[in-house]
Amino acid sequence: MKTTGGDEEAKRRAGESAAALVEPGTVVGLGTGSTAAHAIRRLGEAVAEGLDVVGVPTSFQSRELAREVGVPLRALDEVDGIDLAIDGADQVSGFDLVKGGGAAHAREKVVDAMAERFVAVADPSKRVDVLSHPVPVEVLPDTHTVVARTVRDAGGDPTLRRAEGKDGPVVTDNGNLVLDCDFGEIPDPGALSGTLATVPGVVEHGLFVGLADEVHVGTDTGVTVYD
Ligand code: A5P
Repeated sequence: MKTTGGDEEAKRRAGESAAALVEPGTVVGLGTGSTAAHAIRRLGEAVAEGLDVVGVPTSFQSRELAREVGVPLRALDEVDGIDLAIDGADQVSGFDLVKGGGAAHAREKVVDAMAERFVAVADPSKRVDVLSHPVPVEVLPDTHTVVARTVRDAGGDPTLRRAEGKDGPVVTDNGNLVLDCDFGEIPDPGALSGTLATVPGVVEHGLFVGLADEVHVGTDTGVTVYD
């Protein structure tokens, strides 16, 4: 599994804190990444103890892990809604997030946005005053050069994400490519989100502006909840 650094125990506390919010008989969005994985593992334990829950995975990775730990799954088009989504972040400022370090942000955004309650989970290294993490932008494969030009025109510095263990680029679960677009500090994430969303060829970008209802941050001793 890809890891973005940060303290593993803090990630575990945050993930398990969010998993504790899951009510019997509900549909849960299963985020991607090392922090959400702790929530999925905890949910697997709860299912083994009798919890009735259905998970909707946001990626190959979260589907595979949920199967491994025994969380019953449905595809997104098999459910009417999502009661609670639990998902990690690469950077957090208030309730704004940068996501997509694992290139899963397109499905994550759909699941997190449609959830009645979206709980973001993170370790303290992810919290900042102003977002500045390069924004992952998923693009249709043939459009990466033209989108990269548009991103440069908008003041960003795009880099095609390269695969590890494979020659060439990262290919997303949807068969697309990812440009990591460095804009430096992002004082107005809403404006940049709107700009990126309208670029032809862009499938989805990793700015999640105001989507989170709560942010659970694991600490050395517990969890701080922002809501
Ligand atoms: C997946 O594409 C990402 O959005 C992850 O949720 C994000 O990178 C956080 O991952 P970690 O929990 O591993 O830091």
